[in-house]
Amino acid sequence: MSAPLCSLTLNLPDETATDALARQFAPLVTGATGLAPGGRIHLCGDLGAGKTAFTRALLRESGIKGRIKSPSYALLESYKVSNLYFYHFDFYRFSDSREWLDAGFRDLLRDDAVVLIEWPERAEGLLPPPDLQIDLAYADPGRDVTLTAFTARGQTWLNAIAPLSQKPCPTPGPVAGA
Ligand SMILES: Nc1ncnc2c1ncn2[C@@H]1O[C@H](COP(=O)(O)OP(=O)(O)OP(=O)(O)O)[C@@H](O)[C@H]1O
Ligand SMILES: [Mg+2]
Repeated sequence: MSAPLCSLTLNLPDETATDALARQFAPLVTGATGLAPGGRIHLCGDLGAGKTAFTRALLRESGIKGRIKSPSYALLESYKVSNLYFYHFDFYRFSDSREWLDAGFRDLLRDDAVVLIEWPERAEGLLPPPDLQIDLAYADPGRDVTLTAFTARGQTWLNAIAPLSQKPCPTPGPVAGA
């Protein structure tokens, strides 16, 4: 994994706070704020930490209608809104990271799609670095979340969602494709 560029830690006291944070990402990944649409997000944390809850809120706010299922069993749920593809993966069931290659998912990791991956560590070493990694941890109250940018696009997202007093990435670079 390449080096993290900058990060931000926040407390999410309840599920409403998780939803609110996730909803802030929707306009960033869909291009509504003027950034190039797409991006890859890795979601890490123990069982029940809130990876699916976060993703569901982001997808809902991005305009996905109907049931948003957890990909725990199917490994992948995909969606399309206008011309933008969303791929929601869950690699928990992989026992060997090479299963990821065998599953033929590599072609879906496109920069112009929104790719959300739960349990990316189960494909350790085979995935390219994400734009953003989200680490969720049980806390009192609720959850602590650490957002880490690995690319210029991730840096731009982090600065966009950080509180004004807490901009974590002082020198964001140009965003690929913007
Ligand atoms: N900030 C929060 N504080 C307390 N509870 C929360 C918070 N955010 C989400 N939750 C709750 O935590 C649970 C998260 O479940 P979720 O299925 O999203 O976990 P997960 O990380 O995807 O687990 P898995 O590894 O099994 O896929 C839900 O019951 C949700 O209501
Ligand atoms: Mg989940």
